Formats: sequence, structure tokens, C-alpha cells
Amino acid sequence: MAEQRHDQGGSARDKHVPVLLDRTLELLAPALSREGAVVVDATLGMGGHSEAMLAAHPGLTLVGLDRDTDALRLAGERLAPYASRIHLVHAVYDEWADVLADLGLTEVDGALFDLGVSSLQLDETARGFAYAHDAPLDMRMDPGAPRTAADVLNTYGADELARVLRTYGEEKFAGKIAAAIVRERQKEPFTNSARLVQLLYDTVPAASRRTGGHPAKRTFQALRIEVNAELDVLDRVLPAALDSLAVGGRIVVMSYHSLEDRMVKRAFADRTKSRTPVDLPVELPGHGPEFRLLTRGAELAGEQEIEANPRAASVRLRAAERVGRGNA
Ligand SMILES: C[S@@+](CC[C@H](N)C(=O)[O-])C[C@H]1O[C@@H](n2cnc3c(N)ncnc32)[C@H](O)[C@@H]1O
Repeated sequence: MAEQRHDQGGSARDKHVPVLLDRTLELLAPALSREGAVVVDATLGMGGHSEAMLAAHPGLTLVGLDRDTDALRLAGERLAPYASRIHLVHAVYDEWADVLADLGLTEVDGALFDLGVSSLQLDETARGFAYAHDAPLDMRMDPGAPRTAADVLNTYGADELARVLRTYGEEKFAGKIAAAIVRERQKEPFTNSARLVQLLYDTVPAASRRTGGHPAKRTFQALRIEVNAELDVLDRVLPAALDSLAVGGRIVVMSYHSLEDRMVKRAFADRTKSRTPVDLPVELPGHGPEFRLLTRGAELAGEQEIEANPRAASVRLRAAERVGRGNA
């Protein structure tokens, strides 16, 4: 299978257009241009953002994480000219603190998250992320992870399935789809995507397609988020990433799902609040906010970028900077 993936070919550069690249570079620049700066790209992917950061900052060291070994291999080829300044690590990003400790790092100057699935993962039909092609119902970002989309479909109870579809896919027909899945799997377990796509065509009312898009879109998104526990790991990593930023360090997060964006918004709001008791008239020394927001609300991609790169259509970018630490 690895052979076949490789044959689908092309370099990392051809496979992924980095979203909001200029804005990301601009937001991180003051932190990354400092002497001896270290940035963690938590979602290395095809290394597009990483390559641009390394090129813009000749003194920068980059730690690149990805749970997908194919992405790490391709990004490694792309970033070969910077080999002496990079550490690429196969990890789920909630292993943040352990990865930094293993590298002997106590704090970092930048953190970048470009969440979700990469074009490489969508294009490699054998991995089952795309509903447009019949493929095994896999959807694991880390091909070594234990649970596939087929496991979810064949083992979850109807209520649990409905919750996944409703919460992660914002699917209005979640209950109906879950009941149909449970009924169908009694005949034969699900193995391939075409059967699920047909079930969704049969279950989602045709009238809703005019506004809701392809009937499989939301179910596939929901399954992918569940298979990879995407929201759980994001919830765990945000405090760890914020904790590790040095004063003056900056974090940029690009989300593609409203629940992800809400988590980021909350995590930033927690840290940008004053810690002085509300009934005191003046800020207590060392109790000011630890972070300040660098973005007003969530920033979106412009029309031109969305036209050139449809992935940018749902992006929400938020950024923050550490301005103080603890009670010091
Ligand atoms: C949207 S792509 C990143 C693209 C990258 N910024 C670029 O310019 O090429 C997201 C990548 O993050 C990885 N990823 C998603 N969730 C992850 C997690 N929890 N831990 C580690 N890697 C993750 C995916 O495997 C995918 O390769």
C-alpha cells in the first residue's frame, strides 16, 4: 500500500497549499525572529507553513509534529535543505510536553496549529477520508492507530452513533442515519465507503441537498473526528502549548470546525483575563493577564484565497502572545 501511495506521487510542495500563509508568518514573525527562537509546528502536514517559517528566519529551529507517518516522510523530503535546524517527530500533538522534554526544551517562542485533514490524506483514496471514492472505511490519520471508521460504524450503539453525527457533523438527520446504519450492519458489517455513501443517499432527504451539500459530507467529517479523537486531543494540547510559550512567544491556531474554534476561543479567553480579584480597583502586581489576543475575533480567508484553495473556505484563525508568566 505504501508503494501505491508513493506512486500517486508528486512532492509535498505539489500536494498542499498552505492556508493563510502570509498572515501566519506576519503574526509569528516578532517571536520567531528572536535569537535562538524555537517554533513547534504541531500539524506539520506537507510542511508548507514550516518551510516558509524556516526560510523567513535563518536562526529558527523548528519542531514538526504529525501523527501521520506519510506526512512526516514527505515533509522531511521537502525540508531537507533545513535538516540541521529541524526535529520531525511522529506524535499526536497532545504529547506536546513529552516531546519538548525529550528534546531538552523548557519553553518555545512559537506554536502553530493548522488543524484537520491534509490534502494528501484526502487525495490518497485508499485511506478512506474522501466520500467520492470507494475505499476501505479507515480514516485514521495515524495508520498505526487502533480504531477505524468501520470499527465505529460496526460497534457503536445507535445513540452513540447519532451523538457523533450530530455533534461532530452537525447532521440534522443523525438519528435517522444512525438507525439505518444499525439496521444495515446486521445484514453484513460495513467495510467500504461506497455502501455507506449509498445508505446516506437513501436516508438523507433529497430536498436537503440543495442547502446541505453532498449527503455524505457531514457523516464523513463526523466519523473522521471521532476516529482520530480530534476534539479531545485539541482540548488537552491547548493548555500545554500555552504553558510552554516564553514571554513574547506567539501561538496561531487555524480551525476548520466550529467546535474546534470554540475551544480555541475559550482557551485563549482563559489566559487573556486578569487574575486580579474583580473587587480590587487596581491590578495586583503579577496578576495581570498572561496573554493578549493578536486577532479580533476569528480571522477568515479572503475571497481570492478561497477561490484558489477551497480548504480555506472554513478556516478560522486566532492568535495570542504571552505577555507575562504566573505570579512573577
Ligand atoms: C491541514 S494539515 C497541515 C498542513 C500544513 N500546515 C502544511 O502547510 O502543509 C494537518 C496535518 O496535521 C496532522 N494532524 C492532525 N491532527 C493531529 C494531531 N492531533 N497530532 C498530530 N498531527 C495531527 C494531520 O495528520 C495532517 O498531516
